[in-house]
Amino acid sequence: MNKKIWILTLFPEYFKPLLECGISGQAFRGERSESVKFEINFVNIRDYSTTKYRSVDDSPFGGGPGMVMRADILRDALIKGVVDAGAYNGLDKLHVIYTSPRGRVWNNKVAREFGTEVLSHPEKDIVFICGRYEGVDERFLLKYVNEFYSVGDFVLTGGELAVMTMLDSAVRFVPGILGNKLSSEYDSFEDGMIEYPQYTKPQEFEGMPVPEVLLSGHHKKIEEWQKEQKKLMTQKLRPDLLPK
Ligand SMILES: C[S@@+](CC[C@H](N)C(=O)[O-])C[C@H]1O[C@@H](n2cnc3c(N)ncnc32)[C@H](O)[C@@H]1O
Repeated sequence: MNKKIWILTLFPEYFKPLLECGISGQAFRGERSESVKFEINFVNIRDYSTTKYRSVDDSPFGGGPGMVMRADILRDALIKGVVDAGAYNGLDKLHVIYTSPRGRVWNNKVAREFGTEVLSHPEKDIVFICGRYEGVDERFLLKYVNEFYSVGDFVLTGGELAVMTMLDSAVRFVPGILGNKLSSEYDSFEDGMIEYPQYTKPQEFEGMPVPEVLLSGHHKKIEEWQKEQKKLMTQKLRPDLLPK
C-alpha cells in the first residue's frame, strides 16, 4: 500500500533529519516496509502568498500580540499544492491535521492508534499543517482541518517539531517498520510502566557490575527480575503512571 504524507510548512528544511537518519529515515523514504510505502511531499506555504513581500501572515483583527497565518493563503497551499498537485478529486481522500496546543494530547497510546489506524489506513493520505507565529486564522481551521493534536502542555515556536514527534513515534507501530516485531511491545508505556534497566558490555564499568541474574542464563528468573525492576523503576521515577 502506498501512503502519501503532505506537509505544509514555512520550513521544509526542518524535516531533513527525519528523512535522512535512522529507522524513521528509511521508513519515510519508503525503504523499510513492504506493507506500507511512505512518500513525504512538502508544500512551502510561502509559495502561495499573493503579497509583494511573500508574507503569509497579518496582524490579528481586534488587536493583540504577534501575527496570524492567513486563511486564504493556507487554503491555496492546500488546494493547489496538495489537491491539484496530487491529482486528488477534492478533499475526500485526505485527512487534514493541524498540530496545536488545543489538540488531543499525544502519548504512546495515541501514537499506536495513529500508527496502526491512520498511517496504515489505505483510504486516505495525510496532510499536516504546521502553524507558526500566533497560529492560524480560525476560519481555515473550521473549514479544512479534520483533526487537532498537541504534543504536550507547552508552546512550541512552530508545528514542525510536533509533526516530527508524531511521525517518528507513530511509524514504529506500522507493520514491518521495526526489525524485531516485539521491540515496541517491550518499550516504555506499553503496559503502563517504564522500561526495566538495560546493560551491555563491559561486564564491569567503573566498579559497577552487571546484575548477576542477567548473566545466569536462567530465562524465567531474568523475566521475573525485569518485571520487578519495571515496577520498582515506575514507582520511583514515574509514580503518576500507576493506577491510583
Ligand atoms: C507560537 S505557537 C502558537 C501558540 C498559540 N498562540 C497558542 O497560544 O496556542 C505556533 C505554532 O506552533 C505549533 N505548536 C505550538 N505548541 C504546540 C504543541 N504543544 N503541540 C502541537 N503544536 C504546537 C502550532 O502549530 C502553533 O500554531
